[in-house]
Amino acid sequence: MKPSISLGVNSIAELSNLYPHKKFCIWHIPEIDKEVFLKIKGQLGRRIVSQHIYEMGMPDFDAVSAAHYEFSRDNQADDSVILGIGGGSLMDFVKVLRFSSLNPNWLKEHLNTPLEKVSKDCIRQPLILMPTTAGTGSEITGTATIWDFKRKTKHSFFGNQVYADFAIVDPQFCYGAPWILTRDSALDALSHALESIWNIHANEETRRLATSACQKICSQLPLMKKNLNNQAARLALSEGALLAGMAMSQTQTALAHSLSYEDTLSNQVSHGYACASWLPVVWQLVLETPNNHKVCDFIRQAIGDFFQSPIDMARWLDNLGIESYDPSNMTPEIKQRISMAKSSPRGKNFVGFMQAHENI
Ligand SMILES: [Fe+2]
Repeated sequence: MKPSISLGVNSIAELSNLYPHKKFCIWHIPEIDKEVFLKIKGQLGRRIVSQHIYEMGMPDFDAVSAAHYEFSRDNQADDSVILGIGGGSLMDFVKVLRFSSLNPNWLKEHLNTPLEKVSKDCIRQPLILMPTTAGTGSEITGTATIWDFKRKTKHSFFGNQVYADFAIVDPQFCYGAPWILTRDSALDALSHALESIWNIHANEETRRLATSACQKICSQLPLMKKNLNNQAARLALSEGALLAGMAMSQTQTALAHSLSYEDTLSNQVSHGYACASWLPVVWQLVLETPNNHKVCDFIRQAIGDFFQSPIDMARWLDNLGIESYDPSNMTPEIKQRISMAKSSPRGKNFVGFMQAHENI
């Protein structure tokens, strides 16, 4: 069910070997690297039957529902491959779009419940994902996040059927990404890695993946701030994001993600920024949890070379331009947010809370 992965500079060449007898329908973001895109078009040639530009930003329920219905209506007899090239928002969008159904409520009926089987009135098209940012990991997870900004809620579209068939992770797509996008994407990936360590579903494999991801991201991201043309750092960040995504796809995310959603829904703070701003506080909670020495050790192995403490991490984030919640001053507001988040599905994945927070 999980996608086959191609990683590395020029891994887009792999596209020539995939589905040689099928047509391709491409969805991509407007900011795509023109040169790399031309290479892709050159490889697929006349097999491209349609090309669409995704301009919606974070996928919003009403907009995705409408686009899904419209695309399904125009696409019913088509068995082409869907190729999605973009960041997490685009990839989450095409994960929905690859299911063609003439039921206008199809998406609504399949949110927040695992999609393990596709009904006969629905066509599931092959899906190839190519991330243009190093962060979200969406290319290898069986989850799409669908926001509802009108009703201020967040939904998950997930299940074994939601995984893409192939993920092609080519850092060339990230070469032109501006600093803020590069930073926020990398911090989303760092959050995935740490959240999979302080997670009740963690295992030896996820810890190994997450530790490697943390080390790549924490060492390379500051280098990117100095030089956005550092291609070795770009490759390392792509690798880190992929490893973090692989860990997260097994454990799911945890408390920092849960805490972040309100910042994104209320103020449209970027997902990576919102998650990162909670990392020092959540790490502090791990440290304050009794009998949690093993998890603390795992965290130290992952990020101990870079930060001695949550305050140290907050300083590092500050240097990158991220204002985080203060781990040394758990204000009533912070405590209330934690209290709300801990009973959410993601919050319940968190390894623990200190007694004081249990009694809020
Ligand atoms: Fe995330």
